[in-house]
Amino acid sequence: MPKNIMPPGWEPPFPAWQSVWRDTNDPLLTAYFGIQAKQPALLEHWATPAFSSQYAPLSLERGSYVDQSGVKNYLYIAYWRLSEYQRWWSLEGNSGWWANRARLSEDAGYWREIVVMQFDRFETLHSVDEPHGVGVSADGMDGPMEKHGYSGAMRDRIPLSAEDDMKEIASIHTPLQAQAKDGGARVLVVPPENMCVIRSGQNWSFCEAEEKAYYLQHLYPVLLEGMHYLRDNPAESNCYSLRFVDNKDQAWGCVEQSFGLGYSTDLYAFENWARDHPTHLAIFGNFMQMVETFGEEMKLRLWHEVTVLQKDDCEFEYIGCHPKTGLLGYI
Ligand code: HEM
Repeated sequence: MPKNIMPPGWEPPFPAWQSVWRDTNDPLLTAYFGIQAKQPALLEHWATPAFSSQYAPLSLERGSYVDQSGVKNYLYIAYWRLSEYQRWWSLEGNSGWWANRARLSEDAGYWREIVVMQFDRFETLHSVDEPHGVGVSADGMDGPMEKHGYSGAMRDRIPLSAEDDMKEIASIHTPLQAQAKDGGARVLVVPPENMCVIRSGQNWSFCEAEEKAYYLQHLYPVLLEGMHYLRDNPAESNCYSLRFVDNKDQAWGCVEQSFGLGYSTDLYAFENWARDHPTHLAIFGNFMQMVETFGEEMKLRLWHEVTVLQKDDCEFEYIGCHPKTGLLGYI
């Protein structure tokens, strides 16, 4: 966010809420299961029974996007408590399908990115007191909150920031550890300690016609530009991967929601981009104009969830994917 429009004492003219969970002993977990193919069918054959089996996820979403190599990706986004996920994954039908060598000869690439969200390394932010993402499984919402609307607020909301700067020492040029199997067709990648994961969502399905047109004409194009900047300039932005995903319904139809899923060397990469880069400044500036134009009638919903990862708290697996998929390009 622009520093110059936030002088000391500046009050953001938009409120914010965070999701709260009573039990913070069993961490939350996000699992992204993706396929690179013209259609999602091969993945869906696994997913349909898997996600309705015992220990099914707390919530499930679908999305699709075309990546920087022009390849179509379909994905499921599933949330669990860690212990329930482990029970679910231990069922042969769920994990065995991924381990099966049959995946190697199919006309598709598969990827699986599993992220544990320890409560002291995690925060959520919502522009309305209606949850999105992992917030759907929360016990409630807290707000309007004070810790928002200034640069560094995201960091301040992560409990660990009180005692740890959460900085990653290695640069984006440091090769990531990886383990190749099945003649190199299957690769497990280890991210650096403190890699930052952001899922930042937009929901314009509740907007009246005039606000929707405003969002699509003014805000959406600059958002797209920002997402492409992060996706295409890792050396400058320290962002390994950015997927700008359209949410889909159960039949893979459009639902007027999207999200950016980003991985960066540490949370400062996203903090710096949000504060200084012309693309997020343009996003922020257009948003402020929307707030001025539509005031309390504004129906656009924005939200994000941010995790600072421990490298042993995740799994990134790529099977027959093109070399620029996710973290694969950095091994
Ligand atoms: C329509 C889309 C977006 C709008 C209108 C928007 C606007 C904003 C606003 C108003 C804030 C301040 C939040 C607060 O603390 O109250 C913010 C923070 C932030 N945004 Fe965005 N944003 C959008 C999309 C994104 C996306 C897709 C990403 C990354 C993938 C992103 C990254 C960030 C980060 C990292 C911060 C936290 C900065 C900090 O606290 O230091 N934003 N954005």
